[in-house]
Parts: sequence; C-alpha cells; structure tokens
Amino acid sequence: MMPVGSAAACPEAHNWFREYDNSTRVEDVREGLTAEQKFIPSRYFYDARGSILFERICRLPEYYLTRTELSLLSKHARDLTRDFAHGDLVELGSGANWKIRILLDALGRSRRSTVRYVPVDVSQTALSAAAQELVKIYPELEVAGVVADFTRELQRIGSRRPKLILFFGSTIGNFDEDESTVLLRRVAEVLGAGGRFLLGLDLLKPANILESAYNDPQQVTAQFNKNILLVLNRELGANFSVKDFEHVAFFDSERERVEMHLMAARKLTVDVRELNLSISLAKGETIRTEICRKFSRATAQHMMTLAGLTISRWYSDPKDWFSIAEAGLPRT
Ligand code: AVJ
Repeated sequence: MMPVGSAAACPEAHNWFREYDNSTRVEDVREGLTAEQKFIPSRYFYDARGSILFERICRLPEYYLTRTELSLLSKHARDLTRDFAHGDLVELGSGANWKIRILLDALGRSRRSTVRYVPVDVSQTALSAAAQELVKIYPELEVAGVVADFTRELQRIGSRRPKLILFFGSTIGNFDEDESTVLLRRVAEVLGAGGRFLLGLDLLKPANILESAYNDPQQVTAQFNKNILLVLNRELGANFSVKDFEHVAFFDSERERVEMHLMAARKLTVDVRELNLSISLAKGETIRTEICRKFSRATAQHMMTLAGLTISRWYSDPKDWFSIAEAGLPRT
C-alpha cells in the first residue's frame, strides 16, 4: 500500500484487481460450473446492483443479522475500540458505512485523527462511495481504501502499524472450514502479536428462523440470488436466462449452515464465452451460490484455533442470535 499524505476530503483508493490477470481470476467459475455439485463463488453477487440488493436484504424484517449486529456494535462500541489509538482499522468486506460509523464515533475526534481506516471490498463502486461519504463526515480521518478480493490479497495489507481488523456481517460463514482456516490464518499473520480481530458471527438457532431470513416474501433475496447470473452474463459473456431458475434456500442442520441455490426449472444448456465452456443442467439440478455457516461459541473457537487464534471476548445479544467475537494471537 502506498503511503498516504494528508487525508482530508481525499480518500485513497487502490485497485488491486487491476494487478492480476482476469483470466486466472475467473477460473474459479470454471471450477464451480464443472463440479459435481455446481457452484458459483459468492463474491460474484456483489456488483453495483448486487450491493444495492444486499443493502435491501439488510433492512428486511426477516433478516435479523444486520440489525442484531448493529445493536451489539452500539452497545459495546467503547469496549470494542478500547486502547486503540494508533494504527490501521482494517475492515474486510466493508460495503456501506453503517457499522464502521458506530466504531468511529466511539473513537472520538482525537483518535480518529491518529488512526487510518482501510476498507477492503470487491465492489469498486460501493467502496469509493462509502469512502467519500466518510471523509465528509470525519474530515480528520485518513481513509485508504483497497478494491480487492481479500481472500487473495490480505497479506498485502500487512504493515508494522498496529491493527484492529474487522470482519462483520457473518461473511466468514460464506467460507467452508478449509477456506475459513486459510483466510483466518492470513488474518492472524497480518494481526501480529498485539493486534485485535473482531469477527461478526451468526449463531445457531431454530431452522424456521434461519430459513425465513433467506426466503423473504418480498423476494429480495431471490432477486439477489439470481443477480449472480446477470453478473456472469456481463463479466464472462455467459448466457444464463434468469427466468429459467428458481431461488432455493434451506438450513442443513447436519452441516450447520444455510445454503442458497439456483434451481433449473427445466433441462437447459448454458455457454460461458470467456471460459470457452458449455454446461448442461438437468431439470431440478441446482447451482449452489452461497453457504452461510451458523456458529456456536464452541464451533467459533474451533475455527479460530485452526487458524492459530483465540477468542478473548464474546459479545452476544440477549436472544443469542448473533455474536461479535474478539480474537487475537494467544498470549505467550
Ligand atoms: C453477507 C454473507 C453475511 O450469508 O447472510 C444475505 C449474504 N445471502 N441473504 C449472509 C446473504 C442471502 C449474507 N452475508
């Protein structure tokens, strides 16, 4: 990351996507569409429209996650930001500013002028809009945004500055056990000895509540799910016909995760021009678009342990629906 000068009203944006070749980046789509259970990596949800749809999901009455996490952040903001006065406040998958503003308010003006905010997001549009809004509200704040896929580029965020790394929204739930281990190990490396990590986690709860959150009657989640096909059509020259697919989301109690799929309403074939790929789907066959793991304190600690991290504090709401876990390297 480049050194940042005077920040006021001038957020920096580094686009690390430009630095690697698109042809290797999209190979994950080939892998997904040729797998036994077809899948599309969830990061393809978040183009401009996908980001807007996701914000609408966050406001749905059934989607308790965002609301509960925001209330936890408000309630514990002073604790969560304690002793952090210098260094980088790194937010993975930053999106809109709702959450960070709560923590920035808790820091107060003086600490805001000595820390640097480093939002990392795949969506260029969401990131720069958010960064510009922030420097308007907090002119003393230095913002150095990074447009990147944080599953690949995280190590580059490393610097000797102390770190408070934020990963909210239970987005970690999108990664299976192997993937979350890889990602959290990188977090652990970047954190270093004194660093702190705040991780938002959706917790296990009755299946009907979980399933309602992913099957809203307004069909916003269905539109969000199908949008991933439009992203592939545009970015990879695919020819998915959205009307041929149905939104499906269910809780798998064995694997303790919600899965979202798109189900082919009839037998069909799809071409993906940029990948030189042609696939066929049977009627009723699904493409998995997302896994959303649901945690307990024990499974969260297990996940952290696999990455060499340990949970130091655990903040959850009275219903135990959502948690913010504070973690770091174990004290030696
Ligand atoms: C952003 C990954 C946390 O898993 O709940 C919302 C995305 N998918 N509705 C989630 C999502 C369907 C969300 N995360």
